[in-house]
Amino acid sequence: MLTELLQLLNQRYTNCKQNKINRKPYFLVRLFFYHIIMKNSKITIIGGGNLGLSMANGLMNNPEIQNQNITVTKRQIETLNYLTEKGVKVTGNNAEAIRQADLVIVALKPYNILDVLTELKGAFKPGQILVSVATGISIDQIENVVGNAVKIYRAMPNTASGVSMSATCIASKTNEQHDLVKGCFESFGSAIFIDENLMESATVLGACGVAYVLRFIRGMIQGGIQIGFDSKTATEIATQTVKGAAELLIQGDTHPEQEIDKVTTPKGCTIAGLNEMEHNGFSSALIKGILTSYEAI
Ligand SMILES: NC(=O)c1ccc[n+]([C@@H]2O[C@H](COP(=O)([O-])OP(=O)(O)OC[C@H]3O[C@@H](n4cnc5c(N)ncnc54)[C@H](OP(=O)(O)O)[C@@H]3O)[C@@H](O)[C@H]2O)c1
Repeated sequence: MLTELLQLLNQRYTNCKQNKINRKPYFLVRLFFYHIIMKNSKITIIGGGNLGLSMANGLMNNPEIQNQNITVTKRQIETLNYLTEKGVKVTGNNAEAIRQADLVIVALKPYNILDVLTELKGAFKPGQILVSVATGISIDQIENVVGNAVKIYRAMPNTASGVSMSATCIASKTNEQHDLVKGCFESFGSAIFIDENLMESATVLGACGVAYVLRFIRGMIQGGIQIGFDSKTATEIATQTVKGAAELLIQGDTHPEQEIDKVTTPKGCTIAGLNEMEHNGFSSALIKGILTSYEAI
């Protein structure tokens, strides 16, 4: 009911914006209801594995969401005692966890998600939101199992959700950008709505991307050790440099080459090193790797 009201307010807000009418009242009412929705919505994560737990940690870090409104399920629940201590509900009963939820995030492996959803389809209510994070499983495949009365989304977070730094791509068939879905995924980083046909690309750039960047950092550390740093210091310099370079683009809203121009003196050491890397296929190797990952999905 509240979420429908929020959707209506969103529409009114957008109409006012398009027609250049004062939209501040809608904005304030919308903000008020948004807080109420986030505070009161019940969120269930089916499959408390690597990603499920990263997302649970991210949700717990969001002050708008109450821990007692989060439920995590898995078959072997003994490993999740630390969540119970923080007020999160932990259970092996998927059906019960789905029944009491407004939003169900399904973080099962692609090979068993459809079988498990088939067993649980009776537990879903019309209008409930289901977000699947399973790689390669389409909204149509899920809809064929649970029916179209449930609002189905696909999301592709990455493991940085555990440190609230995920770049999550989200898709739905209707392109609806539900506030509860957006709010939940923004708990652990950025949330970008995309077309479902780009979901595999999102998997490569966002989820596999973590591994590409980590391999890059490893290379920097190895180089740093060869030019005199111990491993710990080289790691500290490399990780902070990568974080800083990313922030330059994020905060400055610039292109990498604009920032590179600022650190490359004519005949200097940076451009000499960069060109040597390019002669050895640096950018090309990365692009080819991205395409190979994409073709391997
Ligand atoms: N890891 C990533 O970077 C990443 C990124 C984006 C998307 N994904 C997608 O996220 C999904 C989960 O990946 P993951 O790495 O988190 O896998 P995972 O660590 O194996 O987690 C899956 C969890 O599901 C639980 N489970 C299995 N059957 C269940 C059932 N019937 N009911 C409740 N829980 C059940 C398992 O625990 P029990 O055996 O105790 O039940 C396990 O902890 C995959 O589809 C993957 O494609 C992963």
